[in-house]
Amino acid sequence: MNEIANLTVSAAGEVNEATSMYPRFAQEAEEDGDHNAAVLFAEIADDEAHHSEAFKAALDVVRTGQGQVPAPPEVDPVTAPAGPPQVRSARTLANLDTALHGEALAFARYTVFAEQAEQNGDEAVAALFRGAAAVELHEHFTAEAVLFGFVDETRANLRKTIAGEHYEATVMYPTFASRAGAVGDIEAAELFWDNARDEDGHARAFEQALDRLG
Ligand SMILES: [Fe+2]
Ligand SMILES: [Fe+2]
Ligand SMILES: [Fe+2]
Repeated sequence: MNEIANLTVSAAGEVNEATSMYPRFAQEAEEDGDHNAAVLFAEIADDEAHHSEAFKAALDVVRTGQGQVPAPPEVDPVTAPAGPPQVRSARTLANLDTALHGEALAFARYTVFAEQAEQNGDEAVAALFRGAAAVELHEHFTAEAVLFGFVDETRANLRKTIAGEHYEATVMYPTFASRAGAVGDIEAAELFWDNARDEDGHARAFEQALDRLG
């Protein structure tokens, strides 16, 4: 994908988060008595609106060759200590889970888009993607993780991690690899098998770390 396509898909994602997803999550959280989550969702909706404006402005610059790509957003990092969920309703918890996945994907997407822009020699666009990626991870994902109770003590974090890696290594990737192989997507099948082996290695390494903790 080129820069225009990357900026277009990024702007569209931000518009959806700013005008649809987060406002709905904020309203539902308020209805369910989760005021802290409603406030957070509304704040994030506002950030995403700024991201969408910045990506649209950058798109204009790339298309026309006129003007300046906006400066990357400032990052005000949050930390997520271990702790239980800080919301009461199952709906808020489910919305936080959806939001966490969206933020993780946005972080990954902007990181690879930044790398692509850098390879194109477009430093200003790369910096914008890197700045937005940092906000998605260090502000949005992390603040949502606190309310979700995402982080536990180390042994529990390791157990959860091992289960996830084990599932990827023994079920998810082998299934994907078989399906890809069956329809002749040989490269994809090979990649899925490679990833399955990697995840198996990760699972073992985390198991050793857990054993050492006793
Ligand atoms: Fe964003
Ligand atoms: Fe975000
Ligand atoms: Fe892994």
